[in-house]
Amino acid sequence: MNNSLFQPFQLKSLNLRNRIVMAPMTRSFSPDGLPGENVADYYERRASGEVGLILSEGTVIDRPSSSNDPNVPHFYGDAALAGWQNVVNKVHSAGGQMGPQIWHMGIIHNHESGWTPAVPFEGASEFHAPGIANGHAMSDSAVADVIAAFGKAASDAKRLGFDCVELHGAHGYLFDQFFWDSTNSRSGIYGGKTITERTRFAVDVIREVRRQVGDDFAMIIRLSQWKLAAYDHKLATTPQELEEWVTPLADAGIDIFHCSQRRFWENEFEGSDLNFAGWTKKVTGKPTITVGSVGLSGEFMASFGGETSDPSSLDELMRRFDRGDFDLVGIGRPLIANPEWARLIKEGREDEIKGFSRELLTELV
Ligand code: FNR
Repeated sequence: MNNSLFQPFQLKSLNLRNRIVMAPMTRSFSPDGLPGENVADYYERRASGEVGLILSEGTVIDRPSSSNDPNVPHFYGDAALAGWQNVVNKVHSAGGQMGPQIWHMGIIHNHESGWTPAVPFEGASEFHAPGIANGHAMSDSAVADVIAAFGKAASDAKRLGFDCVELHGAHGYLFDQFFWDSTNSRSGIYGGKTITERTRFAVDVIREVRRQVGDDFAMIIRLSQWKLAAYDHKLATTPQELEEWVTPLADAGIDIFHCSQRRFWENEFEGSDLNFAGWTKKVTGKPTITVGSVGLSGEFMASFGGETSDPSSLDELMRRFDRGDFDLVGIGRPLIANPEWARLIKEGREDEIKGFSRELLTELV
């Protein structure tokens, strides 16, 4: 019964009881950026439900415009870090392991609440998407400050006792704004015509984080081809381009690639039945996490639009997992609907698993 998902996984600071990873999911229940007891209890419930590794919701670094939502947690400042200390303590007491997903949103569409920070958004350029300006391009010295703020957040994660750290490099946020030529028109070291040149920002963050946390602390990066502003976009259209994108990140110090797709069963390039995580593992030799509609009938952007997703079979996932395409499996919405999802799978109690609908997001259960 999906036993291979319940093999342990060991890498540097990670000692996971199984291959199931809670995907990072913004919940916006941290007023003024402070994660409280309800947030700690929420993560503790998933650890008690036997998730192997919990990745926190995106939590923003210490920059005046790193966030577009006052209820997204901060990963800086004594009060927010005390909140995170409580979270990780509770997760550990429940037998889980956890890393924060550290985040800078860059230039983004304003959040639907209309809230904006006191200073303009900052990004690789002023563009969030082709032709959509929403802030200003960072100077190289502002980029240096952002890199330092990522390093500080990662060292705080280690100091608080987290087991790893994840950099949010996906979905059109700051890292991705540097990767994408449509939003990175910079001259100088952080721009360039090739995807390899445009990895320079990510590479510098990774090196700084590595310098701060040392060699033995596991560092994950989340990447995606798709972005909120362009669902069907591919940064890499061939395996060669993928190699030019991800190899510099591996060489800079990434231990695990978290490969975000909307549907994990979609093959990345024609002529091969490997998905994004499968290809990234093949070209880097590093462990990967797959994610995207595992165990659910519909994908997550449609579910924001109101579509309900029902539980679905894990057969295709297991076929690819047992073939060695990827090492870990990210689970998002099923873990919102079922804090005990991992245990239910382990015990063969699939019939007790509930589907997902967006109403579940109105509460932090
Ligand atoms: C997300 N996702 C997401 N991803 C990320 O990297 N950082 C984040 O903060 C969030 N926030 C977020 C909030 C909510 C409510 C959802 C549903 C999703 C994407 C998430 O990690 C995952 O990739 C997708 O949900 C697809 O996985 P599932 O839900 O199909 O298992």
